[in-house]
Amino acid sequence: MPTPVFPAGFRWGVSTSAYQVEGAADTDGRGPSIWDTFAHQPGRIADGSSGDVACDHYHRYAEDVALMAGLGISAYRFSVAWPRVQPPGSGPASPRGLDFYDRLTDALLARDIDPVATLYHWDLPQPVEDAGGWLHRDTAGRFAEYADLVAARLGDRVRLWITLNEPFVHMSFGYGLGTHAPGRQLLFDAVPVAHHQLLGHGLAVAALRARTTSPVALTNNYSPVRVLGDTDADRAAGEAYDALHNRLFTDPVLGLGYPPDLAPGPEVVRDGDLATIAAPIDVLGVNYYNPTGIRAPEEGSPLPFELADLDGYPRTAFDWPVVPDGLRDLLVGLRDRYGQALPPIEITESGCAYDDEPDADGRVHDPERIAYLDGHLRALRAAVDEGVDVRGYFVWSLLDNWEWAEGFTKRFGLVHVDADTLARTPKSSYAWYRDVIARSRRHG
Ligand code: NOJ
Repeated sequence: MPTPVFPAGFRWGVSTSAYQVEGAADTDGRGPSIWDTFAHQPGRIADGSSGDVACDHYHRYAEDVALMAGLGISAYRFSVAWPRVQPPGSGPASPRGLDFYDRLTDALLARDIDPVATLYHWDLPQPVEDAGGWLHRDTAGRFAEYADLVAARLGDRVRLWITLNEPFVHMSFGYGLGTHAPGRQLLFDAVPVAHHQLLGHGLAVAALRARTTSPVALTNNYSPVRVLGDTDADRAAGEAYDALHNRLFTDPVLGLGYPPDLAPGPEVVRDGDLATIAAPIDVLGVNYYNPTGIRAPEEGSPLPFELADLDGYPRTAFDWPVVPDGLRDLLVGLRDRYGQALPPIEITESGCAYDDEPDADGRVHDPERIAYLDGHLRALRAAVDEGVDVRGYFVWSLLDNWEWAEGFTKRFGLVHVDADTLARTPKSSYAWYRDVIARSRRHG
């Protein structure tokens, strides 16, 4: 059976983020971000690399836009680097930093590709972290000022705005566990980071509305919970994890307030904040990679749940289980949970890492990625057929790029990037995705 088609107007895209692809870390006045600092600390990144050069997309964007045009996509999701636009994290915009995104959006529009801009994909200017980062309430206001500067320049051309990318992952890995920048290990004391990101989101929505009529979204990472074990304690652990991963950054935005056990105290949440956070959004961005197995924690554990392996599934090179049906479950679950409050959805990331290397003939064959994406598009189609309003699908990622704490060791691209020469080689999944899009356009 061929991969399903989607209706005319369905948005087909690919996603990247600034620190993972741009490089040019010191170019045109860019300042350091928390990821520059973190990546240069010994022992933080699996292969000791940093995003100093990454894919050098900053200089090679024209070649990359041509690759996008060859795919026939209708949208490109990139992120704007706050440390390029406002290196100190406050004050006026740096025109040279914004010029890059000007060139990029114009190059996209010239090829009929909608620019979809994420304002924050984890690269906080280091001076903002030095002033307390997302633990500090002021960061929310600073973020909204930065959003205003970007929208003042690009508001006439960006077709969809995304305020934050995966605030749950940023909070838990960056401030809770310390495996991502800024490397703090606060466990549940990181919860103010949730509130300040959400407040920043709400204030940024208001800033964007004042500058543009394009739709505005928030992108979350969702992971359907699979409870392993059938005791009440296992089920309670599943609920606790679901609230943390799937509801903490969605319930307040959709007007339901915080999940009760996770609500930050009155010293963090001020009068009016929840109304700011619940400013209507036009689209919910959904990133899906895999479900999470959960069981009751051991006695004395600091956490109300324990993560458990999901057996019986194929695994990606990241060791993540491949569970396409999880995408259908997640989407139907969001619709059932939020009903009328749920805006239309776009899948802003879906993809997988495999150890793809060129053959002797120089070609890169990645049948596992094709199977992965095909399975997820079938699951997406099933959810759409069950009435979930999904308007787009973005593959993570266009290019093999710098995968955070994993450095260059995990390849997510439709296009292979040689770490030494930075040469781009489309993989077989690139041709496959191009054909899926073309067939959908003909028959959707
Ligand atoms: C989600 C993040 O948004 C992105 O930056 C990352 O590379 C992918 N997941 C894969 O881990």
